[in-house]
Amino acid sequence: MNTNDKIFVAGHNGLIGSAIVRRLIQDGYTRILTKNRSELDLTNQAAVKSFFEREMPDYIFFAAAKVGGIFANTTYRAEFIYENIMIQTNVIHCAFLSEVKKMVFLACGDVYPVNCPQPAKEECLLTGMLEATCEPFALAKIAGIKMCESYNRQYGTDFIVLIPPNIYGPKQHYDTLNAQVLPSLISKFHTAKVQNSEEVTIWGTGLPARDFLFVDDVADACMFLTKEYSGTDVFNIGTGNCGTILSLAEIVKETVRYEGKITFDIRKPDGVLQKLLDVSRIKELGWQHRTSLKDGVEITYKAFLDEIDKKAIRTSLICQTNVCEKDTVALKTISTNNGNAYVNEQPNTYKDRVVVKPWGYEFLVFENKVVAVWLLYIKKGYSTSMHCHPQKKTSLILLSGNAMSNTFLQRRYLRGGDAIIIEKGVFHSTKTLSDDGVFLLETETPPNKVDLIRLEDRYGRETIGYEGVTEMETKNLNEFDYFHYEESSPDTTYHHQNSRFSVTFEVFPNSDEFQRTFKVNGGELYTSCEGGLLDANNTALLSEGNTQKAEILKNARGLHISEKTILLKTLSNDIK
Ligand SMILES: NC(=O)c1ccc[n+]([C@@H]2O[C@H](COP(=O)([O-])OP(=O)(O)OC[C@H]3O[C@@H](n4cnc5c(N)ncnc54)[C@H](OP(=O)(O)O)[C@@H]3O)[C@@H](O)[C@H]2O)c1
Repeated sequence: MNTNDKIFVAGHNGLIGSAIVRRLIQDGYTRILTKNRSELDLTNQAAVKSFFEREMPDYIFFAAAKVGGIFANTTYRAEFIYENIMIQTNVIHCAFLSEVKKMVFLACGDVYPVNCPQPAKEECLLTGMLEATCEPFALAKIAGIKMCESYNRQYGTDFIVLIPPNIYGPKQHYDTLNAQVLPSLISKFHTAKVQNSEEVTIWGTGLPARDFLFVDDVADACMFLTKEYSGTDVFNIGTGNCGTILSLAEIVKETVRYEGKITFDIRKPDGVLQKLLDVSRIKELGWQHRTSLKDGVEITYKAFLDEIDKKAIRTSLICQTNVCEKDTVALKTISTNNGNAYVNEQPNTYKDRVVVKPWGYEFLVFENKVVAVWLLYIKKGYSTSMHCHPQKKTSLILLSGNAMSNTFLQRRYLRGGDAIIIEKGVFHSTKTLSDDGVFLLETETPPNKVDLIRLEDRYGRETIGYEGVTEMETKNLNEFDYFHYEESSPDTTYHHQNSRFSVTFEVFPNSDEFQRTFKVNGGELYTSCEGGLLDANNTALLSEGNTQKAEILKNARGLHISEKTILLKTLSNDIK
């Protein structure tokens, strides 16, 4: 591999991908190709194909995948198998078509059977049943391994498979849905220290033993194999040793300098007693890990503090949706059948009223010529109809709770602080998963309340348009925590806050005022209700009706506005 080769790092924002990028830069590689998911969704076959045809990379480090802990793996089984198989199929096949010189594909230890003799050797693959909790994920990874092997055998490609154990390091997931053992421990001990708690409780007996490998060592193994190996073998990597969860907890406790005690919740399951990979194959080639667990945890905790400081811990997610063929067909069918023809009598204004829905309620928070902002409350277990707006785009921000957003193309799990941009004409529905319901904001561009087409509805409203005056409450608005900001108000800032979220409108009449008063903290989302934000190159970072993360704006160079701008700032207490 030469320093001027074109190298595609798939998943460069992730734990392992970011370590590979750091390492490539450190080693002097200058043509590193990276794409955010919003620029290139690797599950999208056509997009991946045209990316490879355009870029023709020489090498690929394939560290993109849908990854998660036990909770995520057991809950989102369909996504784990679907997305990983899609990502792998697209990338591996295109890597072959575009004749890359070498690719390193990252699998994981879950591919080995649950009763595999320890330490697990590479030959153990496909010799027994997989662990039930992560079976869909493991099966997808096995398909990836076998794809690499099959392409190598049939076409002589040079696709190398690496099987790492638990990996940890800077940029790991700390959120409750996705965190794995070590990040969970760091976050638990740190919180206990900050809150002066007397004890930290660990799930299970603390006796299961695992191997933990520092992420820079994974990057090192990737570089090593790329340079030193060609062939069809699969390689385990790891330290070759494992320690108990208790011993790991003690290292974390010491690193964090937490003074309290460790207790165990033995009602929680332990999982497999030992998981260790046999690393003799790669050792024979001359590779060995370098970072001790103590040093690695120290570096990771420092990075964790730094990430908290910069409020850069990965939390919010902004997803994009686009119209697909199914949307177009569904819309056409409904129009042909005269669906949604009947619209109830509408009021002159939606201000000072709450629209009562079968699934909860909604009310208008703000409206001008550009956008209308609505607050929605959806009760537990309820969902909005599968509907679309042919004329307007919606920026949906989850203010609190967990929800599932469905379109024809994708199912997304969203938490407080996440957002989804739904383009015109995309059929979608939102279902509440949290016990206490979800609050969300929808910014609709342009405002148009009767632009509603329902396809399927649990409450029988398929042929009925938007709720009319009889379904609108105009009294007792305080019971709904009603709030509303008027554009004509002399106040240039309006703030509403409760125990779950805060919503703020900020009006910037001109550039000077913006430079003087605009301040980004971190964790919040910004939506433009008029005007937009540009960076030093006049690239739009936030345009009308769209939503952007604070972190992107905070790191932008020369952030400015070119006209009067109204920003909606939202902060979910779920991500504080
Ligand atoms: N972490 C471990 O303990 C561990 C252990 C063994 C093996 N591995 C393997 O190593 C690989 C990387 O893991 P990781 O821990 O670095 O995971 P990670 O931190 O979750 O990173 C995964 C990356 O993949 C990207 N990605 C996911 N779906 C995508 C899509 N549809 N299109 C484009 N990009 C997409 C993510 O993008 P976003 O940033 O947009 O989400 C993220 O940057 C995985 O194959 C995993 O199985 C990990």
